Amino acid sequence: MSRWERALVTGASSGIGREMARQLAADGTKLVLVARTEERLNELAADVDVECEVLRADLADPTELSYVEDRVRDTVKPIDLVINNAGFGFTGPAHELDVERETSVVDVNVGALHRLSLIAARRMAAAGRGGILNVSSLAGFMSNPDVATYAATKAFVTTFTESLHTDLKQTGVHVSALCPGFTRTEFQTRADYDTSKLPAMMWQSAEEVARAGLRGIDANTAIIVPGAQNKVGAAMLTVMPRRAIRFAMSKLPT
Ligand SMILES: NC(=O)c1ccc[n+]([C@@H]2O[C@H](COP(=O)([O-])OP(=O)(O)OC[C@H]3O[C@@H](n4cnc5c(N)ncnc54)[C@H](OP(=O)(O)O)[C@@H]3O)[C@@H](O)[C@H]2O)c1
Repeated sequence: MSRWERALVTGASSGIGREMARQLAADGTKLVLVARTEERLNELAADVDVECEVLRADLADPTELSYVEDRVRDTVKPIDLVINNAGFGFTGPAHELDVERETSVVDVNVGALHRLSLIAARRMAAAGRGGILNVSSLAGFMSNPDVATYAATKAFVTTFTESLHTDLKQTGVHVSALCPGFTRTEFQTRADYDTSKLPAMMWQSAEEVARAGLRGIDANTAIIVPGAQNKVGAAMLTVMPRRAIRFAMSKLPT
């Protein structure tokens, strides 16, 4: 039996978000599923055994985002777990990438997550309970040529979420940042990211990452790094001088 009554999951149509929704449903948590691809959300809703709302929204669109914000504010069927998981990025040298597409990465990864976190935090703190799980990335631990915008959005997510965790410590609201490494989802295809040179040991499944995230928010872990290989990587990145990280990242094969 889950500790959460009703969870809103953004990016529930695919990958880590869809897995989290499935795992929450298996534990009896009711769901509000958010993404742009309504057919996929409807398929998932039909497949799980709990009360499930589908809320189609493009989180880069302020009007559509406002519908999701209203759902988070709602007190008739209150949401006690918000999972800000929707996110994406594009690959290439920053000066060659399309400005509008890069701005949409900031709008979704930072803008929507920031607003939904603040709105949820206010309502949950007043209620004295709740959870906010923000999906970040190991990419946010370092400068990252070829994914400059994406990496910077995830640095924001980790720092913002860690600060929120401390702000809400005495309120009964759990706040966690989930920082996965390479995870097998549609992410790399959407990002035009060539993964052919990456060793198999660097990868995790969406199922493993989702499980680690849900355990972490239950335990109110501030920063969740799933997988032994990623824990080692995160520990190294935390102690290495920025200059050394920058040098190492500039030597990676592209
Ligand atoms: N996969 C990895 O290696 C990896 C590593 C570290 C962190 N992450 C993070 O994990 C999170 C989930 O990614 P994933 O790996 O599961 O990738 P994914 O399979 O591509 O899923 C991304 C989800 O985000 C939704 N989304 C994208 N743009 C949206 C928008 N404008 N409005 C609403 N929803 C939108 C997509 O739904 P629609 O297209 O239907 O809108 C989809 O459900 C992301 O925040 C990502 O940065 C992934």
